[in-house]
Amino acid sequence: MAPILCSSMPEIKAGHIDDIQELRRARPTMVPERYIRDNSERPTRARLPDSLQIPIIDMSKMIRESDVQFHHELAKLATACEEWGFFQVINHGIDTHKLEDMEEVAREFFDLPLEEKEKYPMKPGTIQGYGHAFVFSEEQKLDWCNMLALGVEPPFIRDPKLWPTNPSHFSETLDKYSVEIRKLCHMLLRLIARSLRRVDENVFNDMFGTAVQAMRMNYYPPCPRPDLVLGLSPHSDGSALTVLQQEADTVGLQILKDGAWVPVHPIQNALVINIGDTIEVLTNGKYKSVEHRAITNKKKDRLSLVTFYAPSYDVELGPLPEFVDENRPCMYRKYNHGDYSRHYVTNRLQGKKTLEFAKIAGEL
Ligand code: OGA
Ligand code: NI
Repeated sequence: MAPILCSSMPEIKAGHIDDIQELRRARPTMVPERYIRDNSERPTRARLPDSLQIPIIDMSKMIRESDVQFHHELAKLATACEEWGFFQVINHGIDTHKLEDMEEVAREFFDLPLEEKEKYPMKPGTIQGYGHAFVFSEEQKLDWCNMLALGVEPPFIRDPKLWPTNPSHFSETLDKYSVEIRKLCHMLLRLIARSLRRVDENVFNDMFGTAVQAMRMNYYPPCPRPDLVLGLSPHSDGSALTVLQQEADTVGLQILKDGAWVPVHPIQNALVINIGDTIEVLTNGKYKSVEHRAITNKKKDRLSLVTFYAPSYDVELGPLPEFVDENRPCMYRKYNHGDYSRHYVTNRLQGKKTLEFAKIAGEL
Protein backbone atom coordinates (compact mmCIF):
# COMPACT_ATOMS: atom_id res chain seq x y z
CA MET A 1 0.00 0.00 0.00
CA ALA A 2 1.45 3.37 -0.96
CA PRO A 3 2.10 5.73 1.92
CA ILE A 4 -0.63 8.21 1.13
CA LEU A 5 0.49 10.97 3.44
CA CYS A 6 3.94 11.03 1.84
CA SER A 7 3.20 10.20 -1.77
CA SER A 8 3.15 13.13 -4.09
CA MET A 9 -0.27 13.90 -5.48
CA PRO A 10 -0.90 14.88 -9.07
CA GLU A 11 0.93 18.18 -9.50
CA ILE A 12 -1.62 20.92 -8.97
CA LYS A 13 -0.54 24.51 -9.26
CA ALA A 14 -1.83 26.63 -6.44
CA GLY A 15 0.14 29.73 -7.37
CA HIS A 16 2.22 31.80 -5.03
CA ILE A 17 0.71 32.10 -1.59
CA ASP A 18 1.89 34.83 0.74
CA ASP A 19 2.61 33.81 4.28
CA ILE A 20 0.02 35.43 6.57
CA GLN A 21 2.41 35.96 9.44
CA GLU A 22 4.66 37.91 7.05
CA LEU A 23 1.71 39.89 5.63
CA ARG A 24 0.83 41.00 9.12
CA ARG A 25 4.17 42.62 9.77
CA ALA A 26 2.97 45.71 7.90
CA ARG A 27 -0.06 45.94 10.24
CA PRO A 28 -2.60 45.99 7.39
CA THR A 29 -6.15 47.13 8.08
CA MET A 30 -7.56 45.08 5.20
CA VAL A 31 -7.02 41.49 4.10
CA PRO A 32 -5.87 40.45 0.60
CA GLU A 33 -8.59 39.61 -1.90
CA ARG A 34 -7.79 35.88 -1.88
CA TYR A 35 -8.90 35.61 1.72
CA ILE A 36 -12.20 37.47 1.38
CA ARG A 37 -15.11 35.04 1.41
CA ASP A 38 -18.35 35.32 -0.48
CA ASN A 39 -21.14 36.70 1.65
CA SER A 40 -22.70 33.29 2.25
CA GLU A 41 -19.48 31.89 3.71
CA ARG A 42 -18.56 34.77 6.02
CA PRO A 43 -18.81 34.17 9.74
CA THR A 44 -21.89 35.85 11.08
CA ARG A 45 -22.33 36.43 14.76
CA ALA A 46 -24.69 33.75 15.96
CA ARG A 47 -27.18 34.65 18.66
CA LEU A 48 -27.03 31.52 20.71
CA PRO A 49 -27.50 30.99 24.42
CA ASP A 50 -24.15 30.54 26.19
CA SER A 51 -25.54 27.36 27.69
CA LEU A 52 -25.52 25.71 24.26
CA GLN A 53 -22.27 23.79 24.62
CA ILE A 54 -20.83 20.53 23.42
CA PRO A 55 -21.06 17.81 26.09
CA ILE A 56 -18.28 17.35 28.64
CA ILE A 57 -17.23 13.78 29.38
CA ASP A 58 -15.39 13.02 32.60
CA MET A 59 -13.09 10.10 31.87
CA SER A 60 -12.29 9.53 35.54
CA LYS A 61 -15.85 8.26 35.89
CA MET A 62 -15.29 5.56 33.30
CA ILE A 63 -12.27 3.72 34.64
CA ARG A 64 -14.08 0.79 36.25
CA GLU A 65 -17.42 -0.61 35.30
CA SER A 66 -18.23 -0.99 38.98
CA ASP A 67 -18.05 2.80 39.39
CA VAL A 68 -21.52 4.12 40.14
CA GLN A 69 -21.19 6.80 37.51
CA PHE A 70 -19.80 4.57 34.75
CA HIS A 71 -23.10 3.91 32.98
CA HIS A 72 -24.32 7.44 33.39
CA GLU A 73 -21.17 8.82 31.78
CA LEU A 74 -21.35 6.17 29.04
CA ALA A 75 -24.91 7.28 28.23
CA LYS A 76 -23.68 10.88 28.03
CA LEU A 77 -21.00 9.74 25.62
CA ALA A 78 -23.61 8.03 23.43
CA THR A 79 -25.70 11.23 23.28
CA ALA A 80 -22.60 13.30 22.53
CA CYS A 81 -21.66 11.07 19.56
CA GLU A 82 -25.20 10.80 18.25
CA GLU A 83 -26.39 14.38 18.62
CA TRP A 84 -23.22 16.47 18.54
CA GLY A 85 -20.39 14.42 17.00
CA PHE A 86 -18.19 16.46 19.38
CA PHE A 87 -17.37 16.45 23.07
CA GLN A 88 -14.66 17.64 25.44
CA VAL A 89 -12.89 15.15 27.70
CA ILE A 90 -11.74 16.16 31.15
CA ASN A 91 -9.68 14.08 33.60
CA HIS A 92 -8.30 12.20 30.60
CA GLY A 93 -5.19 11.16 32.52
CA ILE A 94 -2.60 12.76 30.23
CA ASP A 95 0.03 14.64 32.18
CA THR A 96 -0.61 18.35 31.60
CA HIS A 97 3.13 18.93 31.15
CA LYS A 98 3.02 16.84 27.99
CA LEU A 99 0.20 19.03 26.66
CA GLU A 100 1.99 22.24 27.62
CA ASP A 101 5.32 21.10 26.19
CA MET A 102 3.68 20.34 22.85
CA GLU A 103 2.02 23.74 22.79
CA GLU A 104 5.29 25.41 23.60
CA VAL A 105 7.34 23.78 20.84
CA ALA A 106 4.57 24.38 18.30
CA ARG A 107 4.42 28.07 19.26
CA GLU A 108 8.20 28.33 19.10
CA PHE A 109 8.09 26.84 15.62
CA PHE A 110 5.45 29.25 14.30
CA ASP A 111 7.36 32.18 15.82
CA LEU A 112 10.46 31.37 13.77
CA PRO A 113 11.40 33.57 10.81
CA LEU A 114 9.82 32.48 7.54
CA GLU A 115 13.17 31.31 6.01
CA GLU A 116 13.52 28.86 8.87
CA LYS A 117 9.98 27.45 8.51
CA GLU A 118 10.39 27.19 4.75
CA LYS A 119 13.00 24.53 5.31
CA TYR A 120 10.04 22.19 5.78
CA PRO A 121 7.86 23.14 2.83
CA MET A 122 4.47 21.67 2.07
CA LYS A 123 4.95 21.19 -1.66
CA PRO A 124 1.93 21.79 -3.92
CA GLY A 125 -0.18 18.67 -4.02
CA THR A 126 1.22 17.23 -0.78
CA ILE A 127 -0.13 17.59 2.74
CA GLN A 128 2.91 17.29 4.96
CA GLY A 129 5.14 20.16 6.00
CA TYR A 130 4.64 23.88 6.58
CA GLY A 131 2.22 25.81 4.38
CA HIS A 132 -1.36 25.88 3.12
CA ALA A 133 -3.00 22.47 2.72
CA PHE A 134 -5.95 21.69 0.44
CA VAL A 135 -5.24 24.47 -2.08
CA PHE A 136 -5.82 23.31 -5.63
CA SER A 137 -6.50 26.37 -7.79
CA GLU A 138 -5.64 30.04 -8.13
CA GLU A 139 -9.31 30.98 -7.73
CA GLN A 140 -9.80 29.15 -4.46
CA LYS A 141 -10.26 31.34 -1.39
CA LEU A 142 -7.57 30.86 1.22
CA ASP A 143 -7.87 30.10 4.91
CA TRP A 144 -6.34 32.56 7.40
CA CYS A 145 -4.12 29.87 8.85
CA ASN A 146 -0.57 28.58 8.71
CA MET A 147 -0.16 24.86 9.10
CA LEU A 148 2.50 22.37 9.95
CA ALA A 149 1.30 18.85 9.19
CA LEU A 150 3.23 15.67 9.92
CA GLY A 151 2.57 11.94 9.59
CA VAL A 152 3.44 10.24 12.89
CA GLU A 153 2.49 6.53 12.91
CA PRO A 154 3.13 3.97 11.58
CA PRO A 155 6.76 4.92 10.85
CA PHE A 156 6.43 4.50 7.06
CA ILE A 157 4.20 7.60 6.82
CA ARG A 158 6.86 9.79 8.43
CA ASP A 159 8.83 12.16 6.29
CA PRO A 160 11.81 12.90 8.58
CA LYS A 161 13.00 15.79 6.37
CA LEU A 162 9.85 17.68 7.35
CA TRP A 163 10.22 17.24 11.11
CA PRO A 164 11.61 20.53 12.43
CA THR A 165 15.05 20.42 14.04
CA ASN A 166 14.35 23.91 15.36
CA PRO A 167 13.24 24.12 18.15
CA SER A 168 15.72 21.37 18.95
CA HIS A 169 13.39 19.33 21.16
CA PHE A 170 10.45 19.50 18.73
CA SER A 171 10.57 15.89 17.49
CA GLU A 172 11.12 14.36 20.90
CA THR A 173 8.21 16.36 22.32
CA LEU A 174 5.93 15.41 19.45
CA ASP A 175 6.81 11.74 19.87
CA LYS A 176 6.06 11.74 23.59
CA TYR A 177 2.83 13.62 23.04
CA SER A 178 1.70 11.29 20.28
CA VAL A 179 2.18 8.18 22.41
CA GLU A 180 -0.24 9.62 24.98
CA ILE A 181 -2.79 10.70 22.39
CA ARG A 182 -2.63 7.26 20.78
CA LYS A 183 -3.43 5.59 24.10
CA LEU A 184 -6.31 8.01 24.61
CA CYS A 185 -7.74 7.22 21.15
CA HIS A 186 -7.53 3.51 21.88
CA MET A 187 -9.38 3.98 25.14
CA LEU A 188 -12.00 6.26 23.59
CA LEU A 189 -12.67 3.84 20.75
CA ARG A 190 -13.34 1.11 23.29
CA LEU A 191 -15.74 3.33 25.22
CA ILE A 192 -17.43 4.54 22.05
CA ALA A 193 -17.94 0.92 20.96
CA ARG A 194 -19.44 0.11 24.36
CA SER A 195 -21.71 3.14 24.23
CA LEU A 196 -23.23 1.76 21.01
CA ARG A 197 -24.44 -1.31 22.96
CA ARG A 198 -24.62 -3.53 19.90
CA VAL A 199 -20.99 -4.38 19.20
CA ASP A 200 -18.01 -5.78 21.06
CA GLU A 201 -15.91 -3.13 22.81
CA ASN A 202 -12.85 -4.06 20.74
CA VAL A 203 -14.59 -3.91 17.38
CA PHE A 204 -12.92 -0.68 16.18
CA ASN A 205 -9.46 -1.26 17.63
CA ASP A 206 -9.36 -4.82 16.24
CA MET A 207 -10.54 -3.74 12.83
CA PHE A 208 -8.22 -0.73 12.45
CA GLY A 209 -4.97 -2.73 12.49
CA THR A 210 -1.94 -0.49 13.01
CA ALA A 211 -3.79 2.81 13.10
CA VAL A 212 -2.58 5.80 11.12
CA GLN A 213 -1.87 8.85 13.25
CA ALA A 214 -1.11 12.28 11.81
CA MET A 215 -0.83 15.66 13.38
CA ARG A 216 -1.64 19.12 12.14
CA MET A 217 -0.71 22.23 14.02
CA ASN A 218 -2.88 25.17 12.95
CA TYR A 219 -1.70 28.68 13.73
CA TYR A 220 -4.25 31.46 13.23
CA PRO A 221 -2.61 34.90 13.37
CA PRO A 222 -4.77 37.82 14.48
CA CYS A 223 -6.78 39.12 11.54
CA PRO A 224 -7.74 42.76 10.82
CA ARG A 225 -11.12 41.66 9.38
CA PRO A 226 -12.38 38.46 11.08
CA ASP A 227 -15.81 39.25 9.63
CA LEU A 228 -14.59 38.60 6.07
CA VAL A 229 -12.38 35.55 6.37
CA LEU A 230 -12.33 32.00 7.70
CA GLY A 231 -9.48 30.47 9.69
CA LEU A 232 -10.32 27.02 8.36
CA SER A 233 -13.00 26.17 5.79
CA PRO A 234 -15.98 24.04 6.86
CA HIS A 235 -15.23 20.33 6.67
CA SER A 236 -15.71 17.01 8.37
CA ASP A 237 -12.61 15.03 9.33
CA GLY A 238 -11.55 12.01 7.24
CA SER A 239 -10.33 10.24 10.39
CA ALA A 240 -12.05 7.83 12.79
CA LEU A 241 -11.43 10.15 15.76
CA THR A 242 -9.84 13.57 16.03
CA VAL A 243 -8.26 14.98 19.19
CA LEU A 244 -7.87 18.74 19.35
CA GLN A 245 -5.90 20.65 21.91
CA GLN A 246 -6.40 24.39 22.19
CA GLU A 247 -5.39 27.15 24.53
CA ALA A 248 -7.99 28.20 27.05
CA ASP A 249 -8.14 31.90 26.23
CA THR A 250 -9.34 32.11 22.62
CA VAL A 251 -12.46 30.80 20.92
CA GLY A 252 -12.14 29.85 17.26
CA LEU A 253 -13.58 26.40 16.60
CA GLN A 254 -17.26 26.26 15.63
CA ILE A 255 -19.42 23.25 14.87
CA LEU A 256 -22.58 23.06 12.80
CA LYS A 257 -25.52 22.05 14.97
CA ASP A 258 -29.08 22.17 13.64
CA GLY A 259 -28.04 24.73 11.02
CA ALA A 260 -26.24 27.10 13.46
CA TRP A 261 -22.49 27.52 14.04
CA VAL A 262 -21.94 26.78 17.74
CA PRO A 263 -18.62 27.94 19.26
CA VAL A 264 -16.57 25.46 21.28
CA HIS A 265 -15.49 27.25 24.46
CA PRO A 266 -12.14 25.90 25.58
CA ILE A 267 -11.76 24.35 29.02
CA GLN A 268 -8.32 24.40 30.63
CA ASN A 269 -6.52 21.07 30.07
CA ALA A 270 -9.51 19.46 28.36
CA LEU A 271 -9.24 17.91 24.89
CA VAL A 272 -11.86 18.29 22.20
CA ILE A 273 -12.79 14.99 20.55
CA ASN A 274 -14.78 14.56 17.38
CA ILE A 275 -16.17 11.63 15.48
CA GLY A 276 -14.67 11.39 11.99
CA ASP A 277 -16.04 10.01 8.73
CA THR A 278 -14.85 6.45 9.49
CA ILE A 279 -17.06 6.07 12.58
CA GLU A 280 -20.01 7.65 10.80
CA VAL A 281 -19.71 5.05 8.05
CA LEU A 282 -19.16 2.08 10.39
CA THR A 283 -22.22 3.00 12.47
CA ASN A 284 -24.25 3.66 9.32
CA GLY A 285 -24.77 7.30 10.34
CA LYS A 286 -25.79 6.67 13.95
CA TYR A 287 -22.71 8.50 15.25
CA LYS A 288 -22.08 11.68 13.28
CA SER A 289 -19.00 13.19 11.72
CA VAL A 290 -20.05 16.80 12.15
CA GLU A 291 -19.07 19.72 9.97
CA HIS A 292 -16.87 22.31 11.66
CA ARG A 293 -14.72 25.33 10.85
CA ALA A 294 -12.45 27.86 12.55
CA ILE A 295 -12.86 31.61 12.68
CA THR A 296 -10.20 34.21 13.45
CA ASN A 297 -9.83 36.92 16.06
CA LYS A 298 -8.90 40.55 15.67
CA LYS A 299 -6.58 40.93 18.63
CA LYS A 300 -5.34 37.48 19.50
CA ASP A 301 -3.67 34.66 17.68
CA ARG A 302 -4.74 31.07 18.24
CA LEU A 303 -2.99 27.72 18.08
CA SER A 304 -4.67 24.35 17.77
CA LEU A 305 -2.92 20.99 17.88
CA VAL A 306 -4.90 18.40 16.03
CA THR A 307 -4.33 14.64 15.93
CA PHE A 308 -6.11 12.52 13.34
CA TYR A 309 -6.47 8.85 14.24
CA ALA A 310 -7.59 6.56 11.44
CA PRO A 311 -7.58 2.90 10.35
CA SER A 312 -4.64 1.37 8.54
CA TYR A 313 -4.86 2.18 4.80
CA ASP A 314 -5.54 -1.43 3.79
CA VAL A 315 -8.74 -1.72 5.86
CA GLU A 316 -12.04 -2.18 4.02
CA LEU A 317 -14.83 -0.08 5.50
CA GLY A 318 -18.60 -0.09 5.27
CA PRO A 319 -21.51 -0.04 7.74
CA LEU A 320 -21.35 -2.83 10.35
CA PRO A 321 -24.31 -5.22 9.97
CA GLU A 322 -25.49 -4.37 13.53
CA PHE A 323 -26.46 -0.90 12.31
CA VAL A 324 -28.37 -1.87 9.21
CA ASP A 325 -32.01 -2.99 9.26
CA GLU A 326 -35.29 -2.28 7.51
CA ASN A 327 -35.68 1.03 9.36
CA ARG A 328 -32.13 2.06 8.67
CA PRO A 329 -31.07 0.99 5.20
CA CYS A 330 -27.39 0.83 4.37
CA MET A 331 -26.25 4.38 3.55
CA TYR A 332 -22.64 3.74 2.55
CA ARG A 333 -20.96 1.37 0.17
CA LYS A 334 -17.92 -0.73 1.00
CA TYR A 335 -14.62 0.96 0.20
CA ASN A 336 -10.94 0.83 0.96
CA HIS A 337 -9.82 3.37 3.56
CA GLY A 338 -6.59 4.12 1.68
CA ASP A 339 -8.66 5.08 -1.37
CA TYR A 340 -10.81 7.32 0.82
CA SER A 341 -7.76 9.01 2.36
CA ARG A 342 -6.40 9.73 -1.10
CA HIS A 343 -9.76 11.13 -2.17
CA TYR A 344 -9.89 13.29 0.98
CA VAL A 345 -6.48 14.87 0.57
CA THR A 346 -6.88 15.58 -3.14
CA ASN A 347 -10.08 17.58 -2.68
CA ARG A 348 -10.56 20.95 -1.10
CA LEU A 349 -12.35 21.22 2.24
CA GLN A 350 -16.01 21.64 1.43
CA GLY A 351 -18.35 20.69 4.23
CA LYS A 352 -19.29 17.04 4.15
CA LYS A 353 -18.81 16.70 0.41
CA THR A 354 -15.87 14.29 0.69
CA LEU A 355 -18.06 11.63 2.27
CA GLU A 356 -20.23 11.53 -0.84
CA PHE A 357 -17.43 9.25 -2.07
CA ALA A 358 -19.02 6.52 0.04
CA LYS A 359 -22.71 7.45 -0.02
CA ILE A 360 -25.09 5.13 -1.73
CA ALA A 361 -27.15 7.09 -4.25
CA GLY A 362 -30.68 7.71 -3.05
CA GLU A 363 -29.64 7.66 0.62
CA LEU A 364 -28.21 11.19 0.63
C1 OGA B 1 -8.83 20.50 11.77
C2 OGA B 1 -9.77 21.38 12.50
C3 OGA B 1 -10.11 23.27 13.96
C4 OGA B 1 -9.32 24.26 14.75
O1 OGA B 1 -7.61 20.77 11.82
O2 OGA B 1 -9.31 19.54 11.12
O3 OGA B 1 -10.93 21.18 12.39
O4 OGA B 1 -9.92 24.87 15.62
N1 OGA B 1 -9.26 22.39 13.23
O5 OGA B 1 -8.15 24.43 14.48
NI1 NI C 1 -11.33 19.27 11.43
